Amino acid sequence: MLSTIEQSVPDVQTPSSNSTSESKIENYTSKLSADHTVNLDFGDPTLYEEYWKKMENKCDTMIPSSSSVSYFSDTKNFCWFLEPELETQIRKLHSVVGNAAIKGRHIVVGVGSSQLLSAALYALCPQDTPEPISVVSAVPYYSPYPALVDHLQSRLYKWAGDANTFNGEKPYIEIVCSPNNPDGLIKQAVVNKNGGKEIHDLAYYWPQYTAITALADHDLMLFTASKLTGHAGSRIGYVTNHSNSHHHHHHHHH
Ligand SMILES: Cc1ncc(COP(=O)(O)O)c(C=O)c1O
Repeated sequence: MLSTIEQSVPDVQTPSSNSTSESKIENYTSKLSADHTVNLDFGDPTLYEEYWKKMENKCDTMIPSSSSVSYFSDTKNFCWFLEPELETQIRKLHSVVGNAAIKGRHIVVGVGSSQLLSAALYALCPQDTPEPISVVSAVPYYSPYPALVDHLQSRLYKWAGDANTFNGEKPYIEIVCSPNNPDGLIKQAVVNKNGGKEIHDLAYYWPQYTAITALADHDLMLFTASKLTGHAGSRIGYVTNHSNSHHHHHHHHH
């Protein structure tokens, strides 16, 4: 559903309309022909462009040319390349919205939540795993998950399909997307077996998509600017994790 809106609106955009957003959506919907194909593979959040244009320069961000020269934005931070001001704003936002319990958790930024999904899978797998750990998600899942899991051809983990039919007794990782893309439903983990780990993709757990009814409180929670403010091209995503999830946390030297 979420993708449906994102995909269908730009498709049928008319240059002449300058009415309110609601009547615009009505217009678009009425113009969709019965055989209109909606691509649910990904949602490009161009829907947000109009809003940001209305803001004119009120929300512009200036990045001084002398900033971000060092590899290290904050050597004392678990995520040493996280800009302190970005972290401050992320924490403020979650405390205003009340959608995720991130007090005392680390925030790690990455190139969209897609990159951080790979990073989270890597971090959750012991290096000495005898065989790849199964990664599952409940059908209908966000369609790029299988490719995102398998594209690095890791020997640590592998895509294993629908979480609803997973009956392995071995360690596994379940990706839980809530609200879920493509059906918009609020989801919980379905496997719930010993030795299982979870990655919660909360890309759409913001009030413009769903009612915020509870403080999400999971070990690993993925968020992204792509769905939060619609700035998909910024490729800013972040994951929150507990201070004790330090598997594979090395200090990198460049
Ligand atoms: C459920 C879900 N997770 C993750 C993403 C990827 O977002 P990003 O742009 O942060 O890689 C999308 C984008 O469509 C999505 O729908």
